[in-house]
Amino acid sequence: MKQRHPSVPVITVDGPSGSGKGTVCRLLARSVGWNLLDSGALYRLVGLAARNHGVDMDNHPALEVLAGHLDVQFQTGGDEGDLRIVLEGEDVTQSVRTEEVGALASRVAAVGAVRDALLARQRAFRVLPGLVADGRDMGTVVFPDAELKVFLTASAEERAARRYRQLIATGDAVSLPRLVSDIEARDRRDTERAVAPLRPAADAVELDTTGMGITEVFDHLMRFARERGLA
Ligand code: C5P
Repeated sequence: MKQRHPSVPVITVDGPSGSGKGTVCRLLARSVGWNLLDSGALYRLVGLAARNHGVDMDNHPALEVLAGHLDVQFQTGGDEGDLRIVLEGEDVTQSVRTEEVGALASRVAAVGAVRDALLARQRAFRVLPGLVADGRDMGTVVFPDAELKVFLTASAEERAARRYRQLIATGDAVSLPRLVSDIEARDRRDTERAVAPLRPAADAVELDTTGMGITEVFDHLMRFARERGLA
């Protein structure tokens, strides 16, 4: 059985949408050979399940039930070790990444009971040899004893431009000004919510990635990890 124990090392990477967390966490996890938790995907899945089941965003008890009983599988496979996400038997790998589902995620994420229902599921990813955890409250709430906590930021304009390139590449029709205002609205919801608001942990290393390419961000994270004897 895999060991799940507080002594399993964790690197948390928190920050707003488009700060480069997702890509850099994948690279980091692959490079050190650790497990990866994409916590945003869990909130997105609750948002998607709510939409599929016609559950209203104000129906908090029903959202809590959905979060507590998510029937989801994360399947790794393929040459790239790509991740497939299967929700209630349906492959939702693509649909879970859309802007629409991101907006639903940030609404369900403001519900305290949903966050509580997802806590144990997130902590279950902490297995040997270690975990890279990507999210908003990884260092503050979910893994407060993490060995390394990083908080990534970047200007809203740069984050929208990165997102724009990603969405265009996948064939999504989007407008850049609309993305900037959506990102600003999502930031406001994430930072101003009463439960687990987006903020750096007191002991987090903060890195502003505006103007940096992904390799540069990755190099900084690897350096932080090496300085702590984690890589
Ligand atoms: O990171 P991603 O864009 O996939 O996250 C979608 C939404 O889920 C975020 O805007 C945020 O509201 C929420 N979230 C959260 N806590 C996390 C991860 C994501 O509140 N740890």
